[in-house]
Amino acid sequence: MSKQIAPSLLAADFARVGEQLKEIESVGVKYLHLDVMDGIFVPSISFGMPVIESLRKNTDMIFDVHMMVIDPERYIEVIKKSGADIITIHVEACKDVAGTLKAIRELGARPAISINPKTPVAELVPFLPYVDMVLIMSVEPGFGGQSFIENSYAKLREIAEIRRENNMNFLIEVDGGVNASNIKAVAECGADILVAGSAVFKNNAGENAKTLMELIG
Ligand code: DX5
Ligand code: ZN
Repeated sequence: MSKQIAPSLLAADFARVGEQLKEIESVGVKYLHLDVMDGIFVPSISFGMPVIESLRKNTDMIFDVHMMVIDPERYIEVIKKSGADIITIHVEACKDVAGTLKAIRELGARPAISINPKTPVAELVPFLPYVDMVLIMSVEPGFGGQSFIENSYAKLREIAEIRRENNMNFLIEVDGGVNASNIKAVAECGADILVAGSAVFKNNAGENAKTLMELIG
């Protein structure tokens, strides 16, 4: 699969979000990253099911829902119903990670697992058989517009190596601080899906998305 960007809705202008989604879709963006925050796992609160449901009626992009929520198993069914294609949970936020990942698959969505910058890659390993995607956080989750944490390059290389050694085929996603000046280097470390919030939605979203896609294309 070719490498893809996943614009993060968090950085969009919510007063004209329909228009911005059309702009990115028209230049060939396939994934939309949706950050759901509960104000407990992360300090901030973002949006939830009604927003996802209403956007679902307006676009065919793949909805990549990043659950920054404690005990995410409480919400996976309604999140799937509201239109999620991929549901990512955090290893730090869930008591029964394997059970929740299996439940996500049974609901007909694609399960994914994420780790925060301070969590070692080794903590993902027991769950790799259950996932379609691994998300390496390259900023502390909670806010857009932060700088990429340098040790994320090594973590991406590590998970890519584990995938290669074990002949696995989950996707590797990276989230936080990705922009036009580092996206190529980040992709070269093994990331397949590159989340970008501010780097896409500041100014002209279509133009920005196109530039980022060309850099990894
Ligand atoms: C942070 C979110 C990210 C965020 C990325 O908690 O998970 O998806 O929107 O934003 P940028 O690309 O601006 O760092
Ligand atoms: Zn995210």
